[in-house]
Order: sequence, then C-alpha cells, then structure tokens
Amino acid sequence: MIEIENLSVKYDSHVALEDINLKLEHPSLLVIMGPNGAGKTTLLKAILGLVKYEGEIRIFGKKPEDARNMMGYMPQRDKVNTNIPLRVKDVVLMPLLSKYYFGIRMEDVKNAKRALERVNMLHYWDKNFSALSGGEQQRVFLARVLAQNSKILILDEPFSATDVSTKMKMAKMLHKLKREKTIIIVTHDVNPLVECTDKLLLLRKRVIAYGTVTEVLNEENVERLYGVRVPVIRKENVCYVVGGDVHLQR
Ligand SMILES: Nc1ncnc2c1ncn2[C@@H]1O[C@H](COP(=O)(O)OP(=O)(O)O)[C@@H](O)[C@H]1O
Ligand SMILES: [Mg+2]
Repeated sequence: MIEIENLSVKYDSHVALEDINLKLEHPSLLVIMGPNGAGKTTLLKAILGLVKYEGEIRIFGKKPEDARNMMGYMPQRDKVNTNIPLRVKDVVLMPLLSKYYFGIRMEDVKNAKRALERVNMLHYWDKNFSALSGGEQQRVFLARVLAQNSKILILDEPFSATDVSTKMKMAKMLHKLKREKTIIIVTHDVNPLVECTDKLLLLRKRVIAYGTVTEVLNEENVERLYGVRVPVIRKENVCYVVGGDVHLQR
C-alpha cells in the first residue's frame, strides 16, 4: 500500500512536482504517463526516498527511507552509464551482494539465473554487458530488479529500446507478477499494459488524472497531458492510444 499526500518536490527554485495525492493498493500495477520533464522520474525518486520532498509518503506505513529494502528500482536507461566493464551476471548479482558482508551465496546465483531466464537472457550469463544491444541491456536491468525479489517494483521506462516482441513478453511477465507485487511503471507506451493496469496516472507536474484506464484514458485528458489531440480507441473495456507511443514533446 502506497499513500502520497500533498507531495511537492523542488530542485532549488524549480518546482518539479506540486500537490500530488494518490493511493495505491497492494498488489497492483500503476502506470505513469506524461511528457518529458513532467516529473515522472522525480515522483519515482521521491517514493524511493532519493530526493527531498514536502508532504507525506507512506509505504506500507513507513517512510521511503525506511522502506528501501521493499523496493527494487530500474532506472531510466539513458540516465545510467551502460558502458560498464562488467559481465551480465555481475550486473544482476551486484545488488544482491551488497546485502551481505562477503561472498556470493548459491541462493543469489540461483535467483540471478532464474531472473535472467524469465527475460530470456540466461544464455548471456558470461557475456560483456556493454556489448549487448539497448533492448538486451533493458532485459538484463529488468532481471536485476526481479532477482532482488522485492515486494515493490519501480521501473522507469523499461520498454525503451526494446522491440515489440520483447515489449509484449515483458508486459505478459508483469501481468503475472502483479498478482503478488506492487508495480509502478513509467512508460510512453501504455498499450501493451492496458489489460493489466489497475491505475493510470497522467502527470504533468500535477495530477492531470488518476484512476482506472477506462476512467482516465480519453482524448480530452491526453490532450491536457501532451497538448495535442491523439485518438483513443475504446474496445470492450479497454482503451488504446492510436499511434501507441505517445512520446510527444511539450
Ligand atoms: N537533479 C536535478 N536538478 C535540477 N533539476 C532537475 C533535476 N532532476 C530533474 N530536474 C528537472 O525537474 C523536472 C522533472 O524532471 P523528471 O522528473 O526527470 O521528468 P520526467 O521523468 O517526467 O521526464 C524537469 O524540468 C527537470 O529538468
Ligand atoms: Mg524520466
């Protein structure tokens, strides 16, 4: 259960988030959409306790800094240095090692292997991470988060640089995982996830809309969010944004 009340974040005098209020049940899947600079990453960082904020954030009743061990974080790909001289296995094992004083436990290796298998990357176990394609690196980053077995998964643009087949596979896996986890995903392409999204947040410094996909995803709200009219198709109980990737400039 994540509760956010009157949340604001400032970087010096620049207001990145203003008066955010939302409640998210456990287990569930939340998708966050918004234009570049809307404060999406900042909101994730506030939940993770990585930025200073005003207001209240409670994660299963705890403050973010006291709830870190419940949360696995996959940062936005273009914000991390992917030119690192590490093998795939090191990338996945690294966050597991820091929990212990020394050595690798067999259990950690097993978890790392299982996570890589889930994203179809186990055969790259010994490969150099920097030699992989962007989409493959994303899958390894996802495995790294999965291997931590956290109750809460926080994924910043996990689909960027992935092809449509990888995207659909990732979405299917997240659909299964959300039965037992709280998953928060920032994405510009909600379409692969519409069927498993419990809550959709349209964010542009403030909350433009928050609710179920059917409540929130309509042409008026998308226009308020991005400043352009994008067709939204309603099919049975599901909505799709035409063009899929609404990665639009403000
Ligand atoms: N460390 C920082 N210092 C100063 N300004 C920042 C910092 N991080 C983000 N910002 C600014 O805050 C706003 C929101 O950024 P961000 O949360 O990264 O947006 P998004 O993820 O939606 O693209 C942007 O205007 C960005 O330039
Ligand atoms: Mg971002």
